[in-house]
Amino acid sequence: MSELYHQLLDATIQHLEDLKSRGVRFVPVSPEAVSALTQTSKPAAAARPQPAPRPAPAPAAAPRPIAPTPLARPAPAAPAPRPVAPPTPAPPAAPTLSPEAKAAAIENLRQRVLPCTTCSHLANSRQTVVFGVGSIHADLMFVGEAPGADEDRLGEPFVGAAGQLLTKIIQTMGLSRETVYIANILKCRPDTAPGAPGNRKPTPAEMQTCIPYLQEQIDLIRPKVIVTLGATATEGLLHLTGISRLRGNWQTYRDIPTMPTFHPSYLLHNNDLAEKRRLWEDMLLVMAKLGLPISTRQRGYFLK
Ligand code: URA
Repeated sequence: MSELYHQLLDATIQHLEDLKSRGVRFVPVSPEAVSALTQTSKPAAAARPQPAPRPAPAPAAAPRPIAPTPLARPAPAAPAPRPVAPPTPAPPAAPTLSPEAKAAAIENLRQRVLPCTTCSHLANSRQTVVFGVGSIHADLMFVGEAPGADEDRLGEPFVGAAGQLLTKIIQTMGLSRETVYIANILKCRPDTAPGAPGNRKPTPAEMQTCIPYLQEQIDLIRPKVIVTLGATATEGLLHLTGISRLRGNWQTYRDIPTMPTFHPSYLLHNNDLAEKRRLWEDMLLVMAKLGLPISTRQRGYFLK
């Protein structure tokens, strides 16, 4: 697919994520748009036999769920992703800490993060500071963008609807929330206007302020693989934009192999099997990199 196609796709994904973070659950899509999207996939579809195209849904007065995107899309040709800021230099080789020293260092960091008021607007609006959860000895670390309302209330990352999907993904990989580590770029929930539904995307300034804490977490935990969840976390950590091209392609953060993938919230209301498969293929790459066993059943998830 062309560069323009990927730019449009990224813009669409970003727009849908923004809408969703503002509480929008459905967007109306005209039958003409659905039909045009179906046409977009035709050249790729010619490569192998395809089922008959699905009929476009009839127009309705009420808003409908987001229309499925074309199922057939070849692996992206992946022109070089666009850097938006200089990458963070890798740290000097960290001394290997004993489990006790590592636990003490993480606890010390937590004690510095919990009372943080650097972003006074966030300190004033938050209920809790969401530090991170899981094993500090984990080989695999997931990085999201920021706590939502549920996470802010409970003080734990990824416990809302998107979190439940992430938990399922982790379990499908044969792991558990207790054996991986989960953290966010921002430790505080981005504030929203009183009564406003949904979440707000963190600003670049908020991410820049908070990311040293995540960097310290990563330097202490030293996972073997990092997964960035969604466009915002990927941009915050890797300074790269274009999640639809980046996903499935290994990057490096401070010498650690890092896999960008979709945010689970993107898939929550998107029933497109092909998009689920793309995220799952990213997880298969992660499992292979970690040397985890992959069953035939696991290899086949979300294929028709
Ligand atoms: N989305 C995120 O990026 N992080 C969370 O902790 C919850 C939802």
